[in-house]
Amino acid sequence: MFITFEGGEGTGKSVQASLLKDFLISSGVDVVLTREPGGTTFAEEIRKILLTGEPEKISPLTEALMYLVARTDHWERKIKPALNAGKVVISDRFQDSSVVYQGLCKGVDMNVLNAVYSSITNNQMPDRTYLIDLEPEIGLARSLSRNNSETRFEKMDISFHRKVREGFLELSHKYADRYLVLDGSLSIPEIQELIRDDLSNFYQLR
Ligand code: TYD
Repeated sequence: MFITFEGGEGTGKSVQASLLKDFLISSGVDVVLTREPGGTTFAEEIRKILLTGEPEKISPLTEALMYLVARTDHWERKIKPALNAGKVVISDRFQDSSVVYQGLCKGVDMNVLNAVYSSITNNQMPDRTYLIDLEPEIGLARSLSRNNSETRFEKMDISFHRKVREGFLELSHKYADRYLVLDGSLSIPEIQELIRDDLSNFYQLR
């Protein structure tokens, strides 16, 4: 099973992905937790380029291609082998982030994003996507208080982040069969409980 977490800045995806991993391991499931951009040595190097520096340092198309380069390595070397070995893969962000940030928000041609993606993965989509939806003002404040240097996207203005939120909600309607939208203003345990309940429809976990 391939599970992804999506959402804007500071919505709590990483915390939820990590709690879910611990829960699945304690239920005897073989899990790989990974993230984008990143997940392999090479893709983590690209991550540094993409997430540091000024917002305008890379053009939208170059940026989109860089995410896809990182995703290719991540897919070929980590996600695909793990899925083939029967493991559950949880990725903190994946292709839907490219569709929203580079496609819907920065205007990169969706045909480019989709064509490259489908040739990398043979158009395999995540089985389940958890969207943590939160007002961007709250998410950005959380994200900036974390004190790390990966702030290139946080520096984009609030209207950009509002578009990101709308973009993900649009995808959640388009792919309603694989998306579950979670209210990011709930507490961490409450959100985790909703995710576990949802997964118990697919797995006998408890
Ligand atoms: P991340 O650490 O996931 O952000 P946060 O924890 O603050 O939510 O950083 C990833 C950043 O990269 C985020 O701003 C979204 C952006 N991104 C894209 O623009 N396109 C993509 O395809 C991916 C995977 C991420």
